[in-house]
Amino acid sequence: KKGSYDHFMLKEIHEQPMALRQTLHGRIDGDDVVLEDFPPGSFEGISRVQLVACGTSYHAGAYGEWLLSNDGIDANTFIASEYAAYPAPVDEETLVIGVTQSGETADTLEALQSARDRGARTLALTNVIGSTAARTCDDALFIRAGPEIGVAATKTFSSQVATLTLLAERLVRDVTGEPTADHEARLDALADLPEHVEAVTTDTRAEAIAQQRLGDDGHFFVGRGNAFSVALEGALKFKEITYEHAEGFAAGELKHGPLALVTSDTPVFAIGTGQHGNRLESNINEVRARGAPVVAVAPRTATDLMDAADEFLPVPATHPDLVAVLANVQLQLIAYHAADAMDRSIDKPRNLAKSVTVE
Ligand code: F6R
Repeated sequence: KKGSYDHFMLKEIHEQPMALRQTLHGRIDGDDVVLEDFPPGSFEGISRVQLVACGTSYHAGAYGEWLLSNDGIDANTFIASEYAAYPAPVDEETLVIGVTQSGETADTLEALQSARDRGARTLALTNVIGSTAARTCDDALFIRAGPEIGVAATKTFSSQVATLTLLAERLVRDVTGEPTADHEARLDALADLPEHVEAVTTDTRAEAIAQQRLGDDGHFFVGRGNAFSVALEGALKFKEITYEHAEGFAAGELKHGPLALVTSDTPVFAIGTGQHGNRLESNINEVRARGAPVVAVAPRTATDLMDAADEFLPVPATHPDLVAVLANVQLQLIAYHAADAMDRSIDKPRNLAKSVTVE
């Protein structure tokens, strides 16, 4: 039931604090993590991690790859439908994680099968107990986001990233014998994530900004590091439900081509995490010099970005590894309110299905 909400998508955006509380429930114990089926030592002997996924789940996977890589783990993300085409090395020390909300996406199931056939250990990171992925993988880790009805994934993305953050902690401890470098601060920030997301979902600024941006030629989303995954996700959500052209780029790639598209009719959403010095500010100046209106989405403490951009969508200042999850919630609201103003079929966008069971 949508209750007082006009759409399931808006309801699910607002459910994120609760979904995250369920995701994290009982899984953070002081400065350690407790993952029910994965006691300490569960991942001993793993020397490589590959993540396979589609769409929004691929963006969550890329976020997980970024976390693991920064924690010193050999990690790579693959678009599931491309996985079989990559001669990526796989052996019994390889953990292949299928990131799939439904656990039924054909491309992801096929990639997991191909990994299994080549001797890898497989893990389903999913929302659905009893799904094909959960049943066929060696292990399953549940994101516990609750049912998601809207075709556009929202709360499952946030819960996937939170679960990957927990999993990264267990993996790093098992593989290296040490906790992650910044584990106390990162786990504290993870515990605060529901409250921080709530501060974003109750912020009304995105609605006004989304309405100003209607009728433009294209919408660009840029970021660096984990904010690059969120730039891709922000663009996917926007194009999916508004039917308007939207693209995500690594901010540093703008000058290698996409800048040719930038005009005063292409708003640019720049996602800042506070981890890349003043490089994002330079990118903002680059596109503003071509007349593009810029909306910076960043911690409220990022006054440099606030000053550089035309509009500022703040998120709570938290551990830099988790800022991009909060920025993503602002971008969900941007996509939702833009689509709502255009009277789109938000919960069932044209040509799309919730569960893609064909290859
Ligand atoms: C976009 C969206 C899709 C799914 C993708 C994978 O909003 O929902 O891109 O993320 O079809 O689905 P799962 O996670 O069920 O494998």
